[in-house]
Amino acid sequence: MSQITADTSKTPAHIIVLGNEKGGSGKSTTAMHVAIGLLRLGYLVGSIDLDARQGTFTRYMANRFEYIARHKLALPSPVHFPIEKSKADTVEMQERQDYEFFMMALEEMGHIVDFIVVDTPGSDTYLGQLSHSYADTIITPMNDSFIDLDVLARIDTGNKSIKGPSIYTKMVLEQREKKKARDGADLDWIVMRNRLSSLDAKNKREVGDLLEAISKEFGFRLAPGFGERVVFRELFLKGMTLLDMKEDPEHKMTMSAISARQEVRDLLRCIAPEKHKGYPKKPPRHEI
Ligand SMILES: Nc1ncnc2c1ncn2[C@@H]1O[C@H](COP(=O)(O)OP(=O)(O)O)[C@@H](O)[C@H]1O
Ligand SMILES: [Mg+2]
Repeated sequence: MSQITADTSKTPAHIIVLGNEKGGSGKSTTAMHVAIGLLRLGYLVGSIDLDARQGTFTRYMANRFEYIARHKLALPSPVHFPIEKSKADTVEMQERQDYEFFMMALEEMGHIVDFIVVDTPGSDTYLGQLSHSYADTIITPMNDSFIDLDVLARIDTGNKSIKGPSIYTKMVLEQREKKKARDGADLDWIVMRNRLSSLDAKNKREVGDLLEAISKEFGFRLAPGFGERVVFRELFLKGMTLLDMKEDPEHKMTMSAISARQEVRDLLRCIAPEKHKGYPKKPPRHEI
């Protein structure tokens, strides 16, 4: 049996954090697709679920292990760590324990894997903030509507202008400064639109224009997003991703699924893993 051991001379893992203070924006779904996408490019990947109470990412992973075992499939999966928020008596003790668990997970995997994908809760928690300060890349999925823009900025709905940063944006900017002071390194913040509708072209364009303006003001990049597609719910139940389609015995190859797979590939290209880690020396074990 091959054994993976820590190599301390190895460049530390690149940490990708999925963040957005709103639940239901697609963090866990995107976390799973990014983790499996990087594995299929031949990288070693670890994953951390900081939203273990809700546990969507961890359940997604458990569904995957179960499905793989049931169908005897040879599909890649990350090393997965769920971290449950501490229930210690005082806030100080809780934060100390949360800090220790998170750092332990990073240390355990940091010199073994190339990427660590971290899913965070849809609320402002200590673990959420801490993980943002350790991110090399933050990906913020947001539902494609004016209402959801308030996750990033306060908007004057009358003349559609930016009044200031939202609480989440303030938090990201604060953690970005913390990281710079601590590590002397910046992070790359990517915002992606999720559940894009093919129907409402006017709304899509207006949200797009405003997002461009917000991105310049607060320093993030815009990634091509994912369309609104029912296939995501079916995939969750099986623990599969759009990148597993060819090997999934129960999958029906539809036009919608093929377009969705292209959107996932475009997001992976936007993260540009080769820029952070170089193309894997060995040929990828699976193509994406
Ligand atoms: N592009 C999409 N099209 C359709 N449903 C989606 C899409 N992205 C996510 N969903 C669904 O929306 C729900 C919330 O997604 P999830 O990834 O759990 O969000 P979060 O982690 O931000 O709370 C899930 O049922 C998921 O399957
Ligand atoms: Mg989630």
